[in-house]
Amino acid sequence: MAGDYRAIHKRSLDDPDAFWSEAAEDLHWEKRWDRVFDDSNAPSYRWFSGARCNTCYNALDRHVDGGRAEQAALIYDSPITGRQRSYTYRQLRDEVARFAGVLASTGVAKGDRVIIYMPMIPEAVIAMLAVARLGAVHSVVFGGFASNELAVRIDDATPKVIVSASCGLEPGRVVAYKPLLDDAIAMASHKPDRSIVLQRDEEIALLNPERDLDWDDAMSAAEPHECVPVAATDPLYILYTSGTTGEPKGIVRDNGGHMVALNWSMKNIYGVNPGETFWAASDVGWVVGHSYIVYAPLLHGNTTILFEGKPVGTPDAGVFWRIISEHNVRVLFTAPTAFRAIKQQDPAGEFVTRYDMSGFRTLFLAGERADPDTIQWAERHLDVPVIDHWWQTETGWSICANPMGIEKLPVKYGSPTLPMPGWDMAVLDDNQQPVAAGDIGALVAKLPLPPGTLPTLWNAEARYHEAYMADFPGYYKTGDAGYIDEDGYVFVMTRTDDVINVAGHRLSTGAIEEVLADHPEVAECAVIGVADQLKGQIPVGFLVLNAGCERPDSDILDESVKMVRDRIGPVAAFKTATIVGRLPKTRSGKILRGTMQKIADNEAWKMPATIDDAAILDEITVALQALGYASGAAA
Ligand code: COA
Ligand code: AMP
Repeated sequence: MAGDYRAIHKRSLDDPDAFWSEAAEDLHWEKRWDRVFDDSNAPSYRWFSGARCNTCYNALDRHVDGGRAEQAALIYDSPITGRQRSYTYRQLRDEVARFAGVLASTGVAKGDRVIIYMPMIPEAVIAMLAVARLGAVHSVVFGGFASNELAVRIDDATPKVIVSASCGLEPGRVVAYKPLLDDAIAMASHKPDRSIVLQRDEEIALLNPERDLDWDDAMSAAEPHECVPVAATDPLYILYTSGTTGEPKGIVRDNGGHMVALNWSMKNIYGVNPGETFWAASDVGWVVGHSYIVYAPLLHGNTTILFEGKPVGTPDAGVFWRIISEHNVRVLFTAPTAFRAIKQQDPAGEFVTRYDMSGFRTLFLAGERADPDTIQWAERHLDVPVIDHWWQTETGWSICANPMGIEKLPVKYGSPTLPMPGWDMAVLDDNQQPVAAGDIGALVAKLPLPPGTLPTLWNAEARYHEAYMADFPGYYKTGDAGYIDEDGYVFVMTRTDDVINVAGHRLSTGAIEEVLADHPEVAECAVIGVADQLKGQIPVGFLVLNAGCERPDSDILDESVKMVRDRIGPVAAFKTATIVGRLPKTRSGKILRGTMQKIADNEAWKMPATIDDAAILDEITVALQALGYASGAAA
């Protein structure tokens, strides 16, 4: 299809019905759609309305029946425990069907929610697919979140059942999940009927016989359950992500459009054929894990890798290359931060030379801005194309990418390349007017969005419209700022809201501020994301204490760090805070976080015309310098 990208993209916008219905032909539908694109409830759009399907059937049973029964579907490789396990499509289907039976025996039925709070073990994938098999709705909560965050999600999703494990494993420590789960259930107003706990060898959890079931016991007593067809527009999952406030947004994913878009992306964007091995080194708790560890590779008949480890330290900076050569991985997808970690430990790329990487074809990076240094290091040492692509929890798949299965477009460093089918991108100014090519503004997508993207927010239709559609009528607001050059290449520069990106993990500075503000001695506070060589950004807190506070500053700082770790979780990576006399504000009282961040990162900044007292910025600069930032050197 060389040279076809522009024609394909144009066709997707000119005739979306034909484009997406053709893509849908690869999948199994219990009943075909009445309408491909349904705008009867605009600006809430639906895809494949009237159709009935089951995502688990398409991900597993269809392949078992279609000749892939003995092909590996999932390879679990856990350098942190030294274990490996492989499941064929038939074995995975059987495990999933049995666990669906377990869930059904606890009363889970179509439309019910099930929270999954698990580490990177095959049972997490089995649980997700089993929920999908029943036509129920899963909500996976990342293991690095603390009880409070889990409790918030329990109250919003109101699950009938929670599936968990006794522990997760981080380098050097066992993270006991069960106490976190028990605390979360105690905190939440909604109480699940049951929790199902997988006991791992590294930690045996104490089960509460009134509520908890042991995974193994339940599995041995269960009967396999068939797939339950649902409407294509019914929800498959809810995935909570950070917004501007501490209250996470429940991104909803439907069944039909999601299957179609993800299946299309495997061949056309990632350039893999069914039967080949695809590896997304992420976590099932994030959208990358949902889309590209679980659903897309399985829908497309690939072998997927579930990796329980870190890019470095488990045991060394060669683990990615070991896995690629051992399992014949064709395509790897990870976050730039993982490569920065590897590059830091193995700058000369010596580990790469120890493995046979001849089958490896392409590296994809997403989740944060891919800095040209990292891309070029990877290109040099791996000798394969390195593709930056841009997407969000909301979108479920790429907004912009270089479609390797269609044609490899010229790479421009710093750009995730061009919009994918169905994405009609624009850059608008604050007055909702398009800006000139090369000028920075809000990156927006003309409505409707393609299949696979969020149709709504769970329990929050009004917030959905307000957060994404209200500022730029007729467009979806990505929350990113950037520019489009004269060739149509999109450059994503920064967020326009209070979201920061720490080691590829999306966090809300507002949520961290909410925790800090609860410290009894903190009068007010601000959190900004400052540039970090390894993690891309890290949060830094500024605390203003109550007048007359006599407690040592160091105690308050230590307590603040602990509060964030306890309430949000270690994933917040909140380790740096400082005490200041006041915060810089506009005359209307808005804290100038953007200016603080620019000073910290040595970026050019202008004195805001509306600043209340300019001298405060000098104090902030001194505080940042004491923390090792704001050196004044050019960024
Ligand atoms: N359960 C419990 N704790 C977890 C966790 C989990 N699932 N995941 C992370 N944590 C903890 C870590 O142990 C660490 O704790 P610490 O403060 O005690 O050291 C903290 O959360 C921060 O974790 P992380 O940001 O991952 O930092 P790290 O220093 O452990 O590792 C990298 C740094 C770059 C190696 C790592 O972030 C990485 O591999 N990133 C890849 C990014 C990725 O997968 N992104 C997903 C989107 S593609
Ligand atoms: P998440 O929802 O966790 O996937 O985070 C989405 C956000 O990560 C986006 O809105 C961007 O801010 C950022 N992001 C993801 N991919 C890229 C990329 N390739 N380039 C720049 N920023 C990115």
